[in-house]
Amino acid sequence: MKNILVTGGAGFIGSNFARTMLDKNPRYKITIIDHLGYAGDESTLGRLKRKINFVKGDIADLELIDILVGQNDTVVHFAAESHNDNSLKDPWPFVQSNIIGTYSILEAVRKHNKRLHHISTDEVFGDLELNDPRRFNEATPYNPSSPYSATKAGSDHLVRAWVRSFGVKATISNCSNNYGPYQHVEKFIPRQITNIISGIKPKLYGTGEQVRDWIHVDDHNSAVALILEKGKIGETYLIGADGERNNKDVIELILSIMGKNKNEYEHVKDRAGHDMRYAINSSKLQKELDWQPKFNNFEDGLKQTIEWYSNNQDWWQPQKAETEKKYKKAGQ
Ligand code: NAD
Ligand code: DAU
Repeated sequence: MKNILVTGGAGFIGSNFARTMLDKNPRYKITIIDHLGYAGDESTLGRLKRKINFVKGDIADLELIDILVGQNDTVVHFAAESHNDNSLKDPWPFVQSNIIGTYSILEAVRKHNKRLHHISTDEVFGDLELNDPRRFNEATPYNPSSPYSATKAGSDHLVRAWVRSFGVKATISNCSNNYGPYQHVEKFIPRQITNIISGIKPKLYGTGEQVRDWIHVDDHNSAVALILEKGKIGETYLIGADGERNNKDVIELILSIMGKNKNEYEHVKDRAGHDMRYAINSSKLQKELDWQPKFNNFEDGLKQTIEWYSNNQDWWQPQKAETEKKYKKAGQ
């Protein structure tokens, strides 16, 4: 593996992935393709831009993808519409990017016989009850709830079909909720941190009893790097770091780290069809590929993230007003 095409690399996880890979080995040649939609910004690439080849384009553009895939040996496919709330307002971009876009990537890797790693989410499994002793594993049946998770589930099925029917050399990973630097302020953790910095109260959907399984973005990406190196073609790996917390606890923790009173937040309208709980069993990844997360303490990772948002206001300020305007209109 030397020449790597990273789709969606101007977004949160893809840009962190490109940084991780170049830190591991500066000789990797990385090309990023991103259409620079509302969630992708060249400022996210920052100094990285000088070290990579950046192409502005859409993954559903078959001709462009054919050329780019032909020029690289490995494709790591992050590009997707990624926010559940947006998918409830307008599902079409999710079908276009997540399903048609993945089809376009698959046809190109099939034609050029290139290695693909497909980035997916734990949301494809639906949700768990709060008191369910089980966690998701590689054998959990698919049962997605939202248009976002349904399109991600569809993209996973396409990848598996291309592996089985055409012998495409692909692996899949399904990861839990990421946090860390460069995450768009529409998402839960950065929204609350940037609200507090901006003098706006954090917003908790419904009761806040919903549980998410938090993982630092660097741990997600160290797992992806390992799957590229040692993963078995055709296999799926679940990525998670035992980070289950309910939303109310997370808001209170952010407030207390930021020196505020724990109850200085407000309840807002709940998300339609809100998934109750996600939880990942990552023992396959740990046993077969010897992976371990570095951020074992969520509070430490959160402190680092709060510090990053405090020190990088120039990066997130341009997103903030528009994002809050959209949420206000939705009663959230
Ligand atoms: P993000 O929204 O920050 O980044 C996605 C990037 O993809 C953006 O830069 C966007 O411009 C680009 N993109 C979208 N559609 C495109 C298209 N048609 N053509 C070219 N570029 C396009 O999202 P993220 O949080 O970085 O998520 C990246 C991937 O990881 C997604 O596939 C998502 O489903 C998956 N994932 C995310 C999480 C999480 O907690 N954020 C967890 C598990 C899996
Ligand atoms: O599980 C992996 C998924 O995690 C990824 O596939 C998605 O791309 C990513 O966006 C994330 O999905 P969620 O819907 O879980 O994340 P979000 O940050 O939108 O919300 C996390 C929880 O916080 C969820 O229960 C809704 C709640 N929430 C969210 C926002 C934005 C609030 O209570 N208040 C808020 O302001």
